[in-house]
Amino acid sequence: MWVAAALQSDKGNAVMATATAGKATAVPNDLAPYWLPFTANRAFKASPRLIARAKDMHYYTPEGRAVLDGTAGLWCCNAGHNRDPIVAAITAQAAELDYAPAFQFSHGKAFELASRVAALAPGDLDHVFFCNSGSEAVDTALKIALAFHHVRGEGARTRLIGRERAYHGVGFGGISVGGIVNNRKFFGALLAGVDHLPATYDRAQQAFSSGEPEWGAHLADALERIVALHDASTVAAVIVEPMSGSAGVLPPPKGYLQRLRSICDKYGILLIFDEVITGFGRLGYAFAAERYGVVPDLITFAKGITSGSVPMGGVIVRKPIYDAFMRGPVHGIELFHGYTYSAHPLACAAGLATLDLYRDEQLFERAKALEPAWYAAALRLKGLPNVLDIRCVGLTCGIDLASRPDAFGARAYAAMEHAFAQEGLVIRINGETIALSPPLILSERDIDLIFDKLATTIRALN
Ligand SMILES: Cc1ncc(COP(=O)(O)O)c(C=O)c1O
Repeated sequence: MWVAAALQSDKGNAVMATATAGKATAVPNDLAPYWLPFTANRAFKASPRLIARAKDMHYYTPEGRAVLDGTAGLWCCNAGHNRDPIVAAITAQAAELDYAPAFQFSHGKAFELASRVAALAPGDLDHVFFCNSGSEAVDTALKIALAFHHVRGEGARTRLIGRERAYHGVGFGGISVGGIVNNRKFFGALLAGVDHLPATYDRAQQAFSSGEPEWGAHLADALERIVALHDASTVAAVIVEPMSGSAGVLPPPKGYLQRLRSICDKYGILLIFDEVITGFGRLGYAFAAERYGVVPDLITFAKGITSGSVPMGGVIVRKPIYDAFMRGPVHGIELFHGYTYSAHPLACAAGLATLDLYRDEQLFERAKALEPAWYAAALRLKGLPNVLDIRCVGLTCGIDLASRPDAFGARAYAAMEHAFAQEGLVIRINGETIALSPPLILSERDIDLIFDKLATTIRALN
């Protein structure tokens, strides 16, 4: 048992006093070896933002200072932090079954969770493939799409269509269909045969529109041009986030997703919704597909499935897709894909307890009911210095700040530091955009607190 009891800075290194079997020992805890993901490592290590524990809407620093979570971790702790039923389920599962082989064997909770997820999905999306993250979910969905065309004799359909500004995780599949330049430019030629739709955001047309903007449905028609260029017989799938989260909260223009659906139908192209962020209540519904009344062929999910407590991701597919693979000798593997930790028992236990909480506390409905108060509070920031745009949809908000001359990203970075250290608020930043996505358990008072703290932060910045 290793318990961090104290932490002090010592010339850039930290020293943690730990208690082992009741005996306190000083263990040197050098900040250097850990290479933090998607983090400014040098700035972080000079001034670390450490979190020691969490409960419901709050984090607590090692010194015990409470910090309000404005982002549900990384868009994932939708039921709030360290919820007792989830903790109990994980604990009980760890004591009962740590692991069962994921290939050729399984365990009961995997089937139970697949049924529960399928029951939340729209239309005939009724089969669930499990993995461990959003990135794996995206790679899995792209591979299923390619293999689906292959097994039904249209193996020439190999092209994948993503979108500019999209974020689909960090696997080679995800960055290939993704559209964020820094996530792509360092990593070589990426997947061949990928094309991109234009991004749906145009500040001149859409600034300060709460919810889905009126302008932009026509941008889906770019798919017609891509099909005309390559021929439908070569196109396997289109993948989009119904609402782009990591690119800075870009809600879909009204009618855009419907238009994509009908063009995909016209040409036999599979439509994949990447719902890693939008799944499990973020937009007031189990899936954004329901909010928009559009049924995709595949849905990716992760994050909210376990409220961030144990890593898990997955793909839900329509019945005809699953059925297309169920051929050949019955002892033969139908899809050559999977992960050691697909449907890990701890993740399944956490997922089941999380879905119970969402149902029992009606958290998706709660998110929907809070949307007007959330939008109204967000728009109070309009007119503050350097605020260029505010976008909201569901319980998300993106706030674009003007850059300091020659220092792109520095103002938002300063906002994140100030909010954490001075205001006791965690916000997420991406370039000069601040993104908010609180746990769905938040109260109207929490909404006011989040935007008051953020307003004070923005006013304090130069
Ligand atoms: C839409 C979308 N897809 C995929 C991912 C990748 O998920 P992970 O970080 O779990 O691999 C993310 C992460 O934010 C995401 O927003």
